[in-house]
Amino acid sequence: MKSYRIAMLGGDGTGPEVLREGVKVIDAAARKHGFKLEYQDYDLGGERYLRTGETCPDSVLEELKTFDAIYLGAIGHPEVKPGILELGILLKIRFALDQYINLRPVKLYPNVYTPVKDKGPEDVDFVVVRENTGGIYTGMGGAAMVGTRGEIATQVMAYTRPVVERCVRYAYEYAKKRNKKNMLTLVHKCNVLTHVGDLWVRVHEEMGTTEYPDIKRDYNHVDACTMWMVKSPEFYDVIVTSNLFGDIITDLGAMVQGGMGVAAGGNINPEGVSMFEPIGGSAPKYTGKNVINPIACICAGAMLLETIGEDNAAAAVDKAVHDALASGKIKDMGAGRMGMGTTEVGDLIASLI
Ligand code: IPM
Ligand code: MN
Repeated sequence: MKSYRIAMLGGDGTGPEVLREGVKVIDAAARKHGFKLEYQDYDLGGERYLRTGETCPDSVLEELKTFDAIYLGAIGHPEVKPGILELGILLKIRFALDQYINLRPVKLYPNVYTPVKDKGPEDVDFVVVRENTGGIYTGMGGAAMVGTRGEIATQVMAYTRPVVERCVRYAYEYAKKRNKKNMLTLVHKCNVLTHVGDLWVRVHEEMGTTEYPDIKRDYNHVDACTMWMVKSPEFYDVIVTSNLFGDIITDLGAMVQGGMGVAAGGNINPEGVSMFEPIGGSAPKYTGKNVINPIACICAGAMLLETIGEDNAAAAVDKAVHDALASGKIKDMGAGRMGMGTTEVGDLIASLI
């Protein structure tokens, strides 16, 4: 029987709880579709950092490179200064494993409340392909005369053509494989970022014309995109955008699709090892109470299955999530408001596989 090795990073707060439900569901899909998932736990996160001062040691990074995929709960601890775990664990893994795509589906399931008035599941179903290792996240820049009146700081949005090209190509391929509206919208700010924006615009256009003539091309400035995502989300199919813009618009996307309880993401290296996570945080105040919503993590599990090549199992998980929500048994996506516990939501979805 085919078998895959999965590295488990439960992390902080409610991370381990949602990950357990994710495993419950993807295991059910694996049994049904005739393959096996083998897990290995890694202790990374705020607790380990407070205990040992370590975030993600290089030896762990090397081991992570040997897995078929990584499944992450959440990183973030109230007693650790902001930035340390984000940079030391999450961004470190993204960079070291060259997970250059951040894939974030924005899909509204039935019976899920969206704050966007008069929009339903038929209107909200698009995917954001966020560039995940370049741009302003590279850390280029510096500061001088810090603490004086004249202090100066820069943070550079740097992109090379190959880095833009591999991201845009992934997005075109994704739009083609998805085969829905067959449209790729580039989101940037080329009216002001005339250098880096222009590079993205030309790559999007050149590649589209020469290699993907059947995919429609569109362009939105990022500020306008936030407006359209609320006003006419049905307009989008696949969006491709740079790192920081993608970070910002996918939080808006998460709200449009019903909140952090349902928003999943994948940090993808199409040629290497990818990492899947619910994009909400560690929600420390709900830890251990069996009230957090595991659906985002379960959906991240479906993305994991798709990326390792188990498309049918992935579709089965997505359908089970859909059916569980369509049944109306889960009352709300918010922690403590689901009308059942974290483990019961996992049981219900697993039973529908
Ligand atoms: C995300 C997060 C991270 C990011 C933070 C925690 C570094 O906001 O995954 O969207 O900015 O990419
Ligand atoms: Mn973010």
